[in-house]
Amino acid sequence: MVDLRVNIGIELQNPLILSSGILGSSVGMLKRLAGTGAGALITKSITENPRVGHENPTVIEVAPGIILNAMGLPNPGVDLFLNELEEEDELKIPIIPSVAGYNEDEFGRVAARFEDAGYEMVELNISCPHSTEFSTGKVIAQDTGRTSQVISAVREITSLKLIVKLSPNVTDIVEFAEVALDAGADALSLINTLEALEVDPFFEVPVLGNIFGGQSGESVRCIAQRKIADIALAMHSDRIRNVPLIGIGGVRTPEDVFRFILLGVDAVGIGSSILYEDLAIFENILDGLERMMVDKGYESLDVFRGKAILRIAEMMV
Ligand code: FUM
Repeated sequence: MVDLRVNIGIELQNPLILSSGILGSSVGMLKRLAGTGAGALITKSITENPRVGHENPTVIEVAPGIILNAMGLPNPGVDLFLNELEEEDELKIPIIPSVAGYNEDEFGRVAARFEDAGYEMVELNISCPHSTEFSTGKVIAQDTGRTSQVISAVREITSLKLIVKLSPNVTDIVEFAEVALDAGADALSLINTLEALEVDPFFEVPVLGNIFGGQSGESVRCIAQRKIADIALAMHSDRIRNVPLIGIGGVRTPEDVFRFILLGVDAVGIGSSILYEDLAIFENILDGLERMMVDKGYESLDVFRGKAILRIAEMMV
């Protein structure tokens, strides 16, 4: 038996987390996901008022491993979402609400509603690349000042543990991690999707209703790994404070999870790969991960977490 438990500020039975994104805005879906073997579920991002999201199409696989989405944060709004959740029996798995908003006041109000409802931890989604119509302007996570304002505002009015979801669409992700940590983040999740565009050569138009979207799927895994390594190396060299990391980006196999843990993450988000493997992906990955650990004689994730980062740091001297 291997020990797969992890602590990201709350204890999880295993490191696999449904990442916020394509699934998880309906309570019915969360209920189905609760029995799949995941260690925790991060909900679809919830705003103060209901949002219908962008025009269809909102999610398209444009080539194997290349998924584009521009959903536009569709959700029922915090009141309805909480009402629906309250009607359910306990889901028996940690639920981490993802919070979004137009500005720091909305982030604060929505987070406070979740705290009042008894949640311990939320993820602040400041990095959706298409949160505005036609993806105009910078998103919060591309602006250090606004990043700090949003996190500080939530920090000031709640005692929630805060995961901050970082954007890969910046020059120096470590700079943004530092700002997030200074403003009170307790954990970091990365990466959100990469700014992207696809054009249909036959109809000669963009394929997404919102024109621009965000790319996920296996095609982004190595980019995610580079960004995770940048943050983990900055922690290793004490440039930034050490906090739990949730690695996200194209993870589909037990080997991918192993790679992310070697790069220092505490937990691993699974999102787009559910489109290929269905909900069995959590059990399948856990089985494979356990087998790999048994073969290597590793009794817990701590034994090999960050090993590749130590090696990279040595190689870079
Ligand atoms: O469009 C969406 O709802 C996606 C959000 C995100 O990528 O954070």
